[in-house]
Amino acid sequence: MKLDVYLKEKRKLVDGYLKKYISSKKKDRDCPKHLSEAMSYALTAGGKRVRPILCIAGYEAVGGKSDNILPVAASLELIHTYSLIHDDLPAMDDDDFRRNQPATHKVYGEATAILAGDALLTDAFHIISQSGAKPKILLNIIGELSRASGPEGMVGGQTVDIILEGKKAKKKELHYIHTHKTGALIKASVRIGALMAEATPARLNALTSYGEKIGLAFQVIDDILDVTGTKEELGKSAGADGARGKNTYPSIFGLDTSQSIAEDLIHDSLESIKRLNHNAEPLAEIARYILSRRN
Ligand code: IPE
Ligand code: IPE
Ligand code: MG
Ligand code: MG
Ligand code: MG
Repeated sequence: MKLDVYLKEKRKLVDGYLKKYISSKKKDRDCPKHLSEAMSYALTAGGKRVRPILCIAGYEAVGGKSDNILPVAASLELIHTYSLIHDDLPAMDDDDFRRNQPATHKVYGEATAILAGDALLTDAFHIISQSGAKPKILLNIIGELSRASGPEGMVGGQTVDIILEGKKAKKKELHYIHTHKTGALIKASVRIGALMAEATPARLNALTSYGEKIGLAFQVIDDILDVTGTKEELGKSAGADGARGKNTYPSIFGLDTSQSIAEDLIHDSLESIKRLNHNAEPLAEIARYILSRRN
């Protein structure tokens, strides 16, 4: 299987859905133009679309087939994009550059950037409500997604990330930050795909363990790339973590150990799904890609 072809095909599907979503937003007279433009600016700037693709790959890995998955997958990108807009704000990481362009608050101002984030977060649940999934599945997914993005998930991780800025975190705290600010939504992406396909408990467990491992690995690699990558490669500022006194895997464990921690996590993620059939091949390829990516 060719991963680049797979990623391109799925990105096209996701981007197609997001484009339709944003153009309907721009046409809706109840949505202020300034707001829909800021949402569009952040959402359509590119981005790897890793979370929606993981959701689709998780769905297909356990036999899911219909296009019903698309709105649900896209909702993950809305939440992720909201988290990036807020993450870049002066009160948070104070970053000026994101997805190869000035950060949303640099162009639309802080207030509109905050509101564009709020709007994307809220609309994610609106999109899901209209996805056509069975009510019981819908409820499961809403529970999953809200918990993964909320105070026990991404927002919790972001909170500890900010509180411990400039202080040396204990290893346990670092693990909490990374598994929550980034790991939780990535794990939920895979699980939501599996829930949409009504996976058996054994398969759901396998995908959960896979999602947990790649979710943490994703942030460990993000930390490593902040040290080893360039602004041009990353499409966001490099070296920002050191400058802000962030707790990262390289800052606590060093670069080499961080790299081997990420490698072990990816190895373990592959172990978790090795009993699934060939439909899970894209998940295995995505795990390897998370380790080798340069942006
Ligand atoms: C960046 O996420 C922020 C993290 C959670 C590490 P991505 O690396 O997925 O960013 P985009 O969506 O491709 O811009
Ligand atoms: C961000 O982690 C996690 C989010 C929930 C957005 P980072 O602060 O390391 O992400 P980047 O490096 O700015 O993309
Ligand atoms: Mg941050
Ligand atoms: Mg940041
Ligand atoms: Mg980072």
